[in-house]
Amino acid sequence: MKHSETWNSHSAAETIERARWFGKQLKAGTVIALIGDLGSGKTTFVKGLALGLGVRDAREVKSPTFVILHVYEGSCPLYHFDLYRLDNESDLETIGADEFLGDPQTVSVVEWADRIPQILKQADFKIELKRSGETDRTIRMDSLERSKSSGR
Ligand SMILES: Nc1ncnc2c1ncn2[C@@H]1O[C@H](COP(=O)(O)OP(=O)(O)OP(=O)(O)O)[C@@H](O)[C@H]1O
Ligand SMILES: [Mg+2]
Repeated sequence: MKHSETWNSHSAAETIERARWFGKQLKAGTVIALIGDLGSGKTTFVKGLALGLGVRDAREVKSPTFVILHVYEGSCPLYHFDLYRLDNESDLETIGADEFLGDPQTVSVVEWADRIPQILKQADFKIELKRSGETDRTIRMDSLERSKSSGR
């Protein structure tokens, strides 16, 4: 992937396919921050990522409703965080996610990553999804310089 790229997806299937291709190239330890409104396609993107990482059944991938973290077993495990329910007092330590996020053996992907600014500092990729029509989504992917202060 180039440093930054924006593309238009015309269907959920297209988003999944592109995310699958992206997921195939990811190395363990990678952190991906997803940003976008309700229904913009974050979980759909995670389904593709999971397939790319060798998770057999993408139906396992759901927005974690009452839990913050789901784990899927693929060729490399995928940690799927969803911060939607967090209040703005929360940080990575209070939710206990700091022990998981960026684990060198796994790939981490975080829905609503912008709820905790600390996550963007640790992220290798920032992916923003915007609804531009019934089944159209504008998806911007940025590869980030990881902040030196993250201590890793
Ligand atoms: N081009 C597209 N890309 C992704 N999803 C699409 C697209 N077109 C339609 N959809 C549909 O939009 C919905 C996106 O829902 P999804 O759960 O992925 O969003 P989300 O961003 O995770 O929402 P939430 O914030 O509630 O977790 C799905 O029903 C999906 O099928
Ligand atoms: Mg979701």
